[in-house]
Amino acid sequence: MLATVETNLLGPIRMSSALIDHLKRQPRAAIVNNTSVLAHVPIATSAVYSATKAALHSYTLSQRFMLRDTAVTVQEIAPPWVNTDLIYKSDDPRAMPLDAFIAQTMAALASGREEALVEQAIPMRNNAGPNEHKFIDKFNAYLAANPIPMGS
Ligand SMILES: NC(=O)c1ccc[n+]([C@@H]2O[C@H](COP(=O)([O-])OP(=O)(O)OC[C@H]3O[C@@H](n4cnc5c(N)ncnc54)[C@H](OP(=O)(O)O)[C@@H]3O)[C@@H](O)[C@H]2O)c1
Repeated sequence: MLATVETNLLGPIRMSSALIDHLKRQPRAAIVNNTSVLAHVPIATSAVYSATKAALHSYTLSQRFMLRDTAVTVQEIAPPWVNTDLIYKSDDPRAMPLDAFIAQTMAALASGREEALVEQAIPMRNNAGPNEHKFIDKFNAYLAANPIPMGS
């Protein structure tokens, strides 16, 4: 649990804090924080992981504001489920192929969008609102019935 908080939340905060003075001296610099759609729709069985991503999303908003008058831009990648080793590369058809994810994400980053979202991530990113609890309960019930393969 602590390792997840250290890696997912404190890691990016410490990294950008250590480099920020150097970045500010550059004519142009970028910080890219890697969150997840789970920042917006938490998986109950990965509660701490999801919470670290929500916290990093929140930090990103503050960091972008604090750097608004500098040449340092702050962008966020919030991937959906992508077919990588993170969740036991299973080739599950629900996972986005890595090549397609990289191509769409690089294009979104290059366009300067604050949130570099691929198509699949948008419905989950946009869930917030008064229906949040129902939306998240439905998501967790779906995953309980159709689990994500976690390897052996
Ligand atoms: N794949 C998904 O479905 C998905 C969805 C949403 C968000 N994300 C996020 O996307 C990012 C990349 O994940 P991925 O899917 O590319 O996973 P991955 O294939 O498992 O790669 C994770 C990478 O993080 C490195 N890493 C892990 N712990 C570390 C630590 N304590 N210090 C430094 N490096 C560490 C690993 O290094 P080693 O190889 O040396 O161990 C590896 O290169 C992560 O932030 C993840 O939370 C992924």
